[in-house]
Amino acid sequence: MTKIAIYPGSFDPVTMGHVDVLKRALKIFDKVIVVVGENPNKKYLFSVEERKAMVESATEGLNVEIDHFSGLLVDFTKKKNATAIIRGLRAVSDFDYEFQAALMNRKLDNTIETIFIMTRGMYCYLSSSVVKEVASLGGDLKDLVSMNVAEELKKKFKK
Ligand code: PNS
Repeated sequence: MTKIAIYPGSFDPVTMGHVDVLKRALKIFDKVIVVVGENPNKKYLFSVEERKAMVESATEGLNVEIDHFSGLLVDFTKKKNATAIIRGLRAVSDFDYEFQAALMNRKLDNTIETIFIMTRGMYCYLSSSVVKEVASLGGDLKDLVSMNVAEELKKKFKK
């Protein structure tokens, strides 16, 4: 049986930390679908289409499918015949929200498992928010995001 996992996120924008988690998920699952979603509590810098295009460029060469969704994550996961949801964990500060979401997703559909992948130490400090802050202030984005994403950020903040 093909083991399929969903790797959902806002990816506003996708960072090297996300790509690292994805690469490690690919070692465990036969297929990983990266899905760009909407968190109603967040205000996004990039549209869904822009975020999807950046994920596409940042994951070039990796054997992944890229999609987007709205609505309940468990419904989308089921529709894709996936059995697991991948989430990256950086620090204890991520845990509360992730634990709550994982438990809610299990309540909604107990056939789907949430799998947490610990980030590498070198990416512990890295988040899409911090990347946007550095970009908005003209800082160096090397090692934080792919070259293409860095270009997109520069364009956004030039406007
Ligand atoms: O942490 P992120 O990256 O902002 O997560 C974004 C996303 C879209 C993955 C998250 O907001 C999500 O799972 N949304 C779907 C809504 C849902 O299924 N809610 C019920 C479980 S809490």
